[in-house]
Amino acid sequence: MKDIIIAIDGFSSTGKSTIAKKLANKLEYVYIDTGAMYRGITLFAMDKGLIVDSEIDKVALLEKLPEIFIYFKHNSSTGVAHIYLNDVDVSKKIRSLEVSNYVSLIAAIPEVRKKLVEQQQVFGKEKALVMDGRDIGTVVFPNAELKIFMTASANVRAVRRYKELIEGGDSVSYEEVLENIEKRDLIDTTRADSPLIKAEDAVVIDNSELTIEEQLDYILELVKNKIEEK
Ligand code: DC
Repeated sequence: MKDIIIAIDGFSSTGKSTIAKKLANKLEYVYIDTGAMYRGITLFAMDKGLIVDSEIDKVALLEKLPEIFIYFKHNSSTGVAHIYLNDVDVSKKIRSLEVSNYVSLIAAIPEVRKKLVEQQQVFGKEKALVMDGRDIGTVVFPNAELKIFMTASANVRAVRRYKELIEGGDSVSYEEVLENIEKRDLIDTTRADSPLIKAEDAVVIDNSELTIEEQLDYILELVKNKIEEK
């Protein structure tokens, strides 16, 4: 069986990472969550006091960029990939609403994107990769064999994200979550550097009314066709 790169892009909270993870498991591919990498840099900026009154001290952040090391470690007993920021496991911390509120601003900084895109391209050297994000099919791997673009209504996405946060012990309101999603959609689609857009050759999946199994079956069929085509 030939190995391919599967790029999954789309709006926030469309369940990209759930599908990408399951897909990678099934195919025995590596899975990389690029949103987690942008979240890691955001957490670094917050911890260093570089975000004050919703303003980022860009000069200081750019100076410190070479000191930021983000990597993934697979926990073989749980099967879950953990994300590390300079040797600290930040897998849980990067999911907070506070990080979500600032991450789009950090992800709009070209130097941050350049650093992370270079790292992401190295992950693709061996193929056999499922990567999700916003610019994977357009910028990171424009030649990816299979590109998926996931979308769903903002309400459906807010309900999903709200449930996740509440189950994780956060105390947030549904309105706050919806507002965050709509704000991120706007920043992600209108930023100058690598805005979120569908690659011309991406397959669109609107999963507002689809179960995870339905999406997975559909994508596995696409993968099978792509591999046969090669
Ligand atoms: O997928 P996520 O919600 O964890 O992503 C967090 C933010 O990072 C999102 O608002 C947009 C940004 N992002 C990006 O700009 N490019 C990527 N490849 C992945 C995420």
